[in-house]
Amino acid sequence: MKVRGKNYRAVWMEGRDVVVINQPLLPHRFELLRLKNHRATAHAIKTMIVRGAGTIGATAAYGMAQAFLEGVDLNRAYRTLLETRPTAADLKHALDRVRARANSAKEAVAEAEAIADEYVIRAERIAEVGLPLIKSGSRILTHCNAGWLALVDWGSAPAPIYLAHRRGRKVFVWVDETRPRNQGANLTSWEFLQEGIPHKIIADNAGGFYMQRGEVDLCIVGADRIAANGDVANKIGTYQKAVLARENGIPFYVAAPSSTIDLKCASGKNIPIEERDEDEVHFISGKTANGKPGRIRISPNKSKAGNPAFDVTPAKYITGIITEQGIIKPNDIRKRFGK
Ligand code: MRU
Repeated sequence: MKVRGKNYRAVWMEGRDVVVINQPLLPHRFELLRLKNHRATAHAIKTMIVRGAGTIGATAAYGMAQAFLEGVDLNRAYRTLLETRPTAADLKHALDRVRARANSAKEAVAEAEAIADEYVIRAERIAEVGLPLIKSGSRILTHCNAGWLALVDWGSAPAPIYLAHRRGRKVFVWVDETRPRNQGANLTSWEFLQEGIPHKIIADNAGGFYMQRGEVDLCIVGADRIAANGDVANKIGTYQKAVLARENGIPFYVAAPSSTIDLKCASGKNIPIEERDEDEVHFISGKTANGKPGRIRISPNKSKAGNPAFDVTPAKYITGIITEQGIIKPNDIRKRFGK
């Protein structure tokens, strides 16, 4: 995708460095960060400098390639990278692939490049597969950021929206702000501005209001892990939107590449849910009145907070899962992707 007229991916490799877009600085500053070794790459994933299921997978694959180049203990490096984020299935999928297929640093770099390229190819295919769902005039609600920052390029949920817009269809998107980290307000809105997609950021609590008033035609969200029974783990708050969509008769789609499917998880109950630091709830970051970045506390100093990063939407609320292989009914996941 283009930033100020230049094509970028969310992550790539240059020599021994992994280069990423520094996502917490967006939307106010666009800066690249060079990660010099696999430890720095693991740290960037853990602290969400890079985030989003597919981008996490590609970044981890590059991190594994760095470990090969550094000549360090590969099992240890694998564990360091794997332990960064527990929910995104793509992380393990990508690490396993590099470890299983590479016997040398050269092969590891090539495998990591292949993984990143495959995300892009799959995302382009998701755009084509999902395109018929977007009619001219469609008003779509999305949650969090499943765009190109989250999937190397194109994205999953927004990919059909980008394609519809490029083909001249009139689209409009309700962008959930997605507390506590605000990936919708900070990142999805920024991506949409680059592409010229008409949108409005709404408080997470406002989705039901617009659904009830008939101002949402469909919902499309991404996924971090899809269980064999079609249950979907995605950013916290997705479940509420799915239930509200059902209540209001609105189709609710999930878009994800097949690498996000984890058949070893029989149902959503088996998906590990990341609990993040409570300070993400207590503090909010942004640009202050003097134009400088700042962080303020919004809750009483003595209050505690809970901060689950994801929730599970049961398969029964999902109209279809848009994958690179077609739109699949959640109940057909095992049949379609099982060996
Ligand atoms: O915690 P994050 O920002 O890494 O969470 C991932 C997400 O942004 C979403 O849950 C998204 O919908 C799936 S990523 C393709």
